[in-house]
Amino acid sequence: MDIFEARMNELYKLIEHHAGLYYNDDSPEISDSEYDSLVRELATLEHDYPQYARTDFLTHKVGGQVSSLFAKVAHSVPMLSLDNVFNAEELTNFFARINETRGFVCEMKIDGLAVSLTYEDGVFVRGATRGDGRTGEDVTDNLRMIDAIPKKLRNAPSGIVEVRGEVLMTTERFNAINRQCEEQGIKNFANPRNAAAGTLRQKNPDIIAERGLDIFLYYLVDAQKFGITTQYASLLWLIEKGLPVQEVWKYCEDMKAVNVFIKHWHEERHKLSYVTDGVVIKLDDMTKWGKLGATSHAPRWAVAYKYPPEEARTKLVSIDVSVGRTGVLTPVAVLEPVRLAGTQVRRASLHNFDDIAQKDIRVGDIVRVRKAAEIIPEIVGVDVSARTGQEVPCEVPDVCPVCGSEVVKLPGEAALRCTNRASCRAQLVEGLNYFASRDGMDIKGIGRVLAEKLINSGMIHTLGDIYRLTLEDWTTLDKVAEKTAQNIIAELETSKSRPLVNLVTALGIPYVGRNTAGLLVNRFGSLEAIMKATQEEIADIEGVGHVIAESVHDFMNNEENVKLIDDFRALGFRMSEDIDVKGTKLSGKTFVFTGTLASMTREVASGHVKALGGKTATSVSAKTSYVVAGEKAGAKLARAEKLGITILTEQDFLNMISD
Ligand code: IVH
Repeated sequence: MDIFEARMNELYKLIEHHAGLYYNDDSPEISDSEYDSLVRELATLEHDYPQYARTDFLTHKVGGQVSSLFAKVAHSVPMLSLDNVFNAEELTNFFARINETRGFVCEMKIDGLAVSLTYEDGVFVRGATRGDGRTGEDVTDNLRMIDAIPKKLRNAPSGIVEVRGEVLMTTERFNAINRQCEEQGIKNFANPRNAAAGTLRQKNPDIIAERGLDIFLYYLVDAQKFGITTQYASLLWLIEKGLPVQEVWKYCEDMKAVNVFIKHWHEERHKLSYVTDGVVIKLDDMTKWGKLGATSHAPRWAVAYKYPPEEARTKLVSIDVSVGRTGVLTPVAVLEPVRLAGTQVRRASLHNFDDIAQKDIRVGDIVRVRKAAEIIPEIVGVDVSARTGQEVPCEVPDVCPVCGSEVVKLPGEAALRCTNRASCRAQLVEGLNYFASRDGMDIKGIGRVLAEKLINSGMIHTLGDIYRLTLEDWTTLDKVAEKTAQNIIAELETSKSRPLVNLVTALGIPYVGRNTAGLLVNRFGSLEAIMKATQEEIADIEGVGHVIAESVHDFMNNEENVKLIDDFRALGFRMSEDIDVKGTKLSGKTFVFTGTLASMTREVASGHVKALGGKTATSVSAKTSYVVAGEKAGAKLARAEKLGITILTEQDFLNMISD
């Protein structure tokens, strides 16, 4: 394999991973512009090395998957995406490609999620998401809860009217909802687009009404049938029918006018009530659209000009250090306030002290700040030429800034950790917040804010103590009314009987997240058995390496932790699962995994098979009992079909191991 093929394979994996987080989980880890640059790098390589290109890859298709939560709707006309350009030169190439220099409509590119609305004789009858472009999800009931969508059109024509646009959340609503999430201890949203997408996929329409989504329409399907021949006229038509269209759009006579529009809105867009990351340029004359046609994923008569990620320069005033759940010290930059992407930025993340040293970031430096994923700013570099000599290198702390205990740097780790796990206030707050989180004991109502109040109140010293607080204790806390207290007490009671995997996760054992907790539970069946297990037995589980095994073993043999677990037992927590720990359920069965699994890595999946007595293999033969086919399963699936081997979907497999 040469370096280009290797890099392309790597890009396919990376893009698949991040696209999944973006489209399906509404929870991206990287900014849109970082994602775009991965896609662009891949596109260039695919162009230069077509022999390594995967023609079925998702970048050649539109957006996400069709979820199984909602009924499916086939789109009358495919819902396409847009090609992107990132600078004036690429835009000029677009004009050249379509051989047009005059008559465009520029609109802001709304950062929301595409939907299609259908009206019959003027009445709203159906709404769908884009899905994979051909088939979407029927979200009619949810869309009905959006006030901005008229349920009846004005001066409606008879028959079918289908319009398309973008469901979005305004920045103001987004900030309010994130504040609310913070208070309730629910994970907040990375950006307004994710908040809108997450909301629209809710099964409870009341929540949608509460969240206050908005919509702007920008496309009339089959406009010709209403005698409309330009994009400009179709936007006016939408407005006339009472459909909401964004304020910012303009007819631009020529390419120069398009460039002026783009330039003008580069900064001005931050004054808008919604997030936009670019401008969509559409050829106004629709009669030419058909001839220009479309690629598999985008029309040729339009293009999206994406603004570069926002960067600003400002002074680094000082470096604050926060302490997390596992005692990791995270440096945070305190900045001279600077305007960036429409907000005032005062703080930015600095990752870790090695990173600060490597970038040679000094207090007093002029630094470059960038917004990642639209919301959290980070420092990307230093303007060394602006140094005066007064800058002070960052001091690496040798004690915890919260409790004053010694800090250590563990071998192989970049992070510094506070050693006072038992009583460092910061670790206790973060630990309690994690304990109560969704993957942990899932105690609704307890988040970081309440955790801090609890720890500061001095009423709790161990995690078990929260289960012993009385109604009176709870109501002494600031802003906890009786009703809230009652709810929390009921939640705590319910949490005791959650599956053991929640408790094992909630313990916060270093390196043990929910997946690994699941492997431990599957292998040992009870907390008692996990506590008694030797390090070797733990390391024997497929998907659990030596580092994790050592961490689990150390944790379970620490006196404080043993006491904590005894306390949970006395409080009546569920401590075991009625599962086949002897691992005979899958004995004699051989599994082969192919394609990408959505909910776990292949290693973890193999771990589950082995914990239940089964075997795994990498190639399909007559001896294979089951082939588990994930996304993009290829040759192995074909071979299994040929040999008549039972093929399982990921869901079938999950059902099989969880029964
Ligand atoms: S027109 C057939 N106009 O951006 C062309 N799309 O990244 C339909 N978008 O799929 C698209 N604002 O979901 C158009 N003013 C606008 C838009 C817009 C946002 C979305 C749309 C599209 C995506 C492409």
